[in-house]
Amino acid sequence: MKDDGLLDLSDHDSFSMGVPHLTFERLRNEDPVYWTKEKNGRGFWSITKHSDILKVNRDNKTFSSAQGIRIEDQTEEEYLARKTFQETDPPEHRVTRMMVAPAFSQKAIATYEEMIRDLAKNIIEKATKSSEFDIVEKVAKQLPMMMLGRILGLPDNDLEWLVVKGDALIGNSDPEFTDHIVDKLDDEQYRFMPFRSPAALDLYDYAENILNKKISINKTGILSKVLDANSSEKVMEPHEFKNFFCLLIAAGNDTTRYSIAMALYQLSLDNNLIRDLRSNQYWGTCADEFIRLASPTMYFRRTATCDVSLRNKNIKKGDKVILWFVSGNRDHEVFKNPHDVILSRSPNPHVSFGQGGVHFCLGIWLARMEVRILLEELAKKIDKIDLLDNPTWTRSNFICGVKSLKVRIA
Ligand code: HEM
Repeated sequence: MKDDGLLDLSDHDSFSMGVPHLTFERLRNEDPVYWTKEKNGRGFWSITKHSDILKVNRDNKTFSSAQGIRIEDQTEEEYLARKTFQETDPPEHRVTRMMVAPAFSQKAIATYEEMIRDLAKNIIEKATKSSEFDIVEKVAKQLPMMMLGRILGLPDNDLEWLVVKGDALIGNSDPEFTDHIVDKLDDEQYRFMPFRSPAALDLYDYAENILNKKISINKTGILSKVLDANSSEKVMEPHEFKNFFCLLIAAGNDTTRYSIAMALYQLSLDNNLIRDLRSNQYWGTCADEFIRLASPTMYFRRTATCDVSLRNKNIKKGDKVILWFVSGNRDHEVFKNPHDVILSRSPNPHVSFGQGGVHFCLGIWLARMEVRILLEELAKKIDKIDLLDNPTWTRSNFICGVKSLKVRIA
């Protein structure tokens, strides 16, 4: 659907040709706390300015994660069946966060640098055996799941299957990723499943097999640590573990893929960027710039716990409040030339990772490192990326990304 500056943000089709940046720009300029009607829901507030996003995200007492984090309305029963620590508030949230955070720390992730580099080299070597290919499929998609597999401690042979399931889960509104398109074929059957998706059933089974030791996981991986009964820290209950597993498969896969895909798309639009990257001046800043532009998880939701006023709008207790990170990341009051790639941009206070909130992304160090190293290895091998066709985009108002990008490389 072409962006005329007035698209309906509750409609996945509004995002099927990419993010409707004109619509977001209008909202930031004209009505930054905007009541958005929903065809199949009770409506929500769209928060589109960077400063408001930070303000709301910092105030988890007034704006809670504990009634769902996506736009979809959920009953209490559905919420309880599907919740992970991402759908909780402090102090409950802190218990699990503290348990898993050390494994995702900058220090822990730094130990994977060589592994990421070897994988990136192999991926690029393999892809560049041809000169024309879909660079999202052959490059961007490959690294995130391989790395997630290693960090979680999963068998390599299962990763491809997990990518398909992860895509179906998070791409639950895109007919290319699922037969069960959430806003078209929805029924009661899957309402207790993460993302209301049948793919979650398969992932639950897989997680169950891990619990029953039918699938053996690496002892050094994160999953083994959270399941370790001898651990002195809190151990996850089976149901909590299954939802946590789905969260990681969803969170660690597509987000990083679409960040890499955005970088590759930008390089294809301006081949000078490859030359600039090769100058080795921008490795400390470029990953964040591409992640800002990609903003793969476009929003997360909060729910007001009391009546509150924001920019003279009366938000009522129980109202859904959507933090459009994707819009905050293009706010010209914060970012000079917000639609341009500025490899040296620093500071770069983007909010792609949910900065400012207690749920601030755990995968930040991993995602940044994957994007940087992949580009480092790519810039060594490829001089030029030419587009052979227009990119295709995910049909989703939650996860945004270049789904395919047919290119010729030299
Ligand atoms: C560029 C890539 C990524 C982006 C843009 C991204 C984005 C986000 C955002 C916006 C949040 C905050 C959610 C909220 O405020 O409710 C978040 C949380 C989270 N992310 Fe990421 N993510 C990325 C990569 C990853 C990776 C690679 C992993 C795991 C391997 C991961 C795991 C998580 C987890 C577990 C949470 C929940 C944290 C909590 O609730 O305390 N993410 N992510």
